[in-house]
Amino acid sequence: MSAQPRVAVFPGSFDPITLGHEDVVRRSLAFADRVVVGVAEQPTHAKQGMFTVEERVAMIRESFPDEPRVEAAAFGGLLVDFARSVGARLVVRGVRTVADFEYEQQMAMMNRRLLASLETVFMAPDPAHAFVSATLVRQIATLGGDVAPFVSPAVLRHIRARAAGG
Ligand code: PNS
Repeated sequence: MSAQPRVAVFPGSFDPITLGHEDVVRRSLAFADRVVVGVAEQPTHAKQGMFTVEERVAMIRESFPDEPRVEAAAFGGLLVDFARSVGARLVVRGVRTVADFEYEQQMAMMNRRLLASLETVFMAPDPAHAFVSATLVRQIATLGGDVAPFVSPAVLRHIRARAAGG
């Protein structure tokens, strides 16, 4: 009998997905058979949004056209329930800075308290992306700056269309 596929969930707001996020997804494929990128409808810290949850899911799918092991889906409610529903026992999160770590550790411990079988794996990003965040990308794009170095060409097209009023 073959072993159960190892499924990891990579949850977040992804408004929009950045090259930093994509790097974490690709690194996760080294230890997961499938990575489900989950776009939260109820993030803990709600922020001023740029794209709808459906648009974010679509952009994630467009960012991995040749990677059948990567999926994207929206989820409402708790992350632990979403993880259970897709058969994931791993949660992946990218940790860029010490400031990130405090919040990430609190979430990891709370999620494990809610679902004991769920482990969180923290991934260190490629240093090239360590300063990139979706929040900064949104602000730079909104104020007319160039975000081409921080997002994939597919995402850049959506950002430019939005800036042009699309
Ligand atoms: O990209 P973000 O906004 O830092 O991601 C935060 C996210 C979506 C992972 C977190 O807010 C989350 O898991 N929200 C779903 C609701 C939930 O499970 N809350 C309890 C977390 S301990």
